[in-house]
Amino acid sequence: MRDRAIEILNANWRDGYTIPSKNLYPYQWNWDSGFIAIGLAHYDMDRAQKELETLLNSQWENGFIPHIIFHKISETYFPGPNFHRADLHPLANKKYPSTGMTQPPVLGFVLERIYEIAKNKADSLRFIKKNIDKVYKNHHYFYKHRDPNNEGLVYIYHNWESGTDNSPLWDPIFETIDAPEYNFERRDTSIIDPSERPTKREYDYYLHIIDIAKEHNYSDNKIAEFSPFLVQDPLFNSMLIKSNRSLITLYKMIGGNEDKIEQLERWQVKSLSSFNSKLFDEDLSAYIHYDLRNDKPIRLVSSSSFSPLFAGIPNKEQAEILVKTMMEKFGGKDMYLCASFDPTNSKFNPKKYWRGPVWINLNWMLYQGLLDYGYNDLANRIKSDTLEILEKVGFYEYTDPRKTIYKGKVKGYGGSDFSWSAALYLDLVNNQPTIRT
Ligand code: DGY
Repeated sequence: MRDRAIEILNANWRDGYTIPSKNLYPYQWNWDSGFIAIGLAHYDMDRAQKELETLLNSQWENGFIPHIIFHKISETYFPGPNFHRADLHPLANKKYPSTGMTQPPVLGFVLERIYEIAKNKADSLRFIKKNIDKVYKNHHYFYKHRDPNNEGLVYIYHNWESGTDNSPLWDPIFETIDAPEYNFERRDTSIIDPSERPTKREYDYYLHIIDIAKEHNYSDNKIAEFSPFLVQDPLFNSMLIKSNRSLITLYKMIGGNEDKIEQLERWQVKSLSSFNSKLFDEDLSAYIHYDLRNDKPIRLVSSSSFSPLFAGIPNKEQAEILVKTMMEKFGGKDMYLCASFDPTNSKFNPKKYWRGPVWINLNWMLYQGLLDYGYNDLANRIKSDTLEILEKVGFYEYTDPRKTIYKGKVKGYGGSDFSWSAALYLDLVNNQPTIRT
């Protein structure tokens, strides 16, 4: 498995970055790159560093880091750079064509993780010192431009920014949007089974939200004012908070930088307090999303509901409540942990992308979060479930949470030879103690 994982990462390496999966995802994706760098760090630190540097090179003048960087034009992906037109934004990176949206901010905690993995700590710290300010600038962008009410909770303006693209979480929002029928040729559904991908109608909404942002040249202020999709996402904000923490730890190791440490601590205090007062739903016993545009909570449970464990957000009592909810809704003995959407909800679909399947990156986060809170048995179950699934199906993009279907010949879903599945497998099997802050 280890050799196979390395083979996949090597095959998906392009000149300076790793594609998530051949054909289906032929470019560099933001959060993919972060997770991939963690896997690379276990056997080729130079490449891990290069992966991150390439992503950071795409940063815009305002600190923004895009979700896809279109290094070389590919015919197998839609929508490409000509649809996204990120260049409409006056501060867009002139060298790297990209999308005008972002993805969950992984880079802070990725830097910390690759430092933990590094054998040559001095070299790793030199690398971090050279690049950390760019990550700080990215956090500055989020707090300055994505938090119009000054709550310490940043918004996403597109479901693709969440990373959990077609989750049923977004259905109630799409119902409020009057999207036209677009005429376009999708490539993903000619590569893999359409039953595993979002529908055509969902793509209409995705494209329409981008068109609205384009009408405003991707201005953050205008997007906050006009985008029909504007959400405070607990997964996205957990990753920001986790990365804030890592930046504080790393700046302290580097020395100096008191002003940045103080600013990060101020953001952190505000974020933690709003997160717990606004996004914890007592009745559902879980963290939820908040629809900022329509000013109402999205009262649905998904694997994102547990991601605050990874960032040290819940207190002990809340953590206990989360674990109970996870076990009751997601943890039946016939289920692998952790389905991406509530298996007890009628919208759960175990095969369709983010509407139910297990995703390795979420499992990797939940594993660490549960360990941090001392839930060792449950953490170990998530880890062994993850390894067992990968051993059964190989390094797919996502997999079925129902144990019952793994009797005969089973396959995973979405892209095969998927880079972050391989990368995070390497991290899980090479598991090292993490620095606790
Ligand atoms: C896709 O093309 O499905 C990607 O997830 C968008 O980020």
